[in-house]
Amino acid sequence: MNKTATPTTQVFPDSAAASQALAMEVVALIKSREAQGLPTVLGLATGGTPIQFYEALRKLHSAGEISFRTVTTFNLDEYLGLDRADPHSYWQFMHEQLFDHVDILPDNIHVPDGTIADSELEAYCRSYESSIVEAGGIDLQILGIGTNGHIGFNEPGAARDSRTRVVDLCEKTRNDNAVHFTEEQQVPTRAISMGCATILDAKRIALMAWGERKAATVQSALHGPITPELPASFLQEHPDTTYYLDKGSAGGS
Ligand code: GLP
Repeated sequence: MNKTATPTTQVFPDSAAASQALAMEVVALIKSREAQGLPTVLGLATGGTPIQFYEALRKLHSAGEISFRTVTTFNLDEYLGLDRADPHSYWQFMHEQLFDHVDILPDNIHVPDGTIADSELEAYCRSYESSIVEAGGIDLQILGIGTNGHIGFNEPGAARDSRTRVVDLCEKTRNDNAVHFTEEQQVPTRAISMGCATILDAKRIALMAWGERKAATVQSALHGPITPELPASFLQEHPDTTYYLDKGSAGGS
């Protein structure tokens, strides 16, 4: 893919307004595809960033604005070693934040399984990729961004052509995410993550980032060199990416 379009940015007064706008984009997408008799495939993200976005989607659903009956979802990543029932698993996060509150069909939910045995992982990751292709590819991929520029769990050094695989988590990421864990249960050291190429295959990408703490990373991702050292910089090569920013994260851009 050549550099055809620098991602566009939309700056909102605050994260709530940005999250609402992105939720409205999702509603419009689902409705327009429904009108054409087509399902919608969403790539979904976890972390603190998308919480208000999922809240906005829940509210739009309970207000009767949107149904998820035609929606299939693929989550970016999951910690390895965590059972689905574990309160820290991304499976749980997604059910609490969205799936338990909307009419999505359980068979249409895909979150990587963190309990797959090491010997099965390679085949499992390949099958996750195949499922995305069989579903028709991702129409809209939702992303957050790590303070080290990671997308999904594609940490610095991740290859542009990487696919779903097992990744080792950086110390910085484990420290950032430690707030969600307890002393007794530490942040896992490995995860399954969609690859950079999996993400870049999405027809459209929306990346959310909030607060001054992300401003320098956002600035580098948008305008710095395209490098595996900052995996979000690969989005510069994607033809249809929008950064949804609040004033803080847009500070440097
Ligand atoms: C997490 C997730 C990413 C997320 C990022 C930022 O570890 N794997 O998908 O975008 O790190 O997290 P937060 O939104 O909590 O800042």
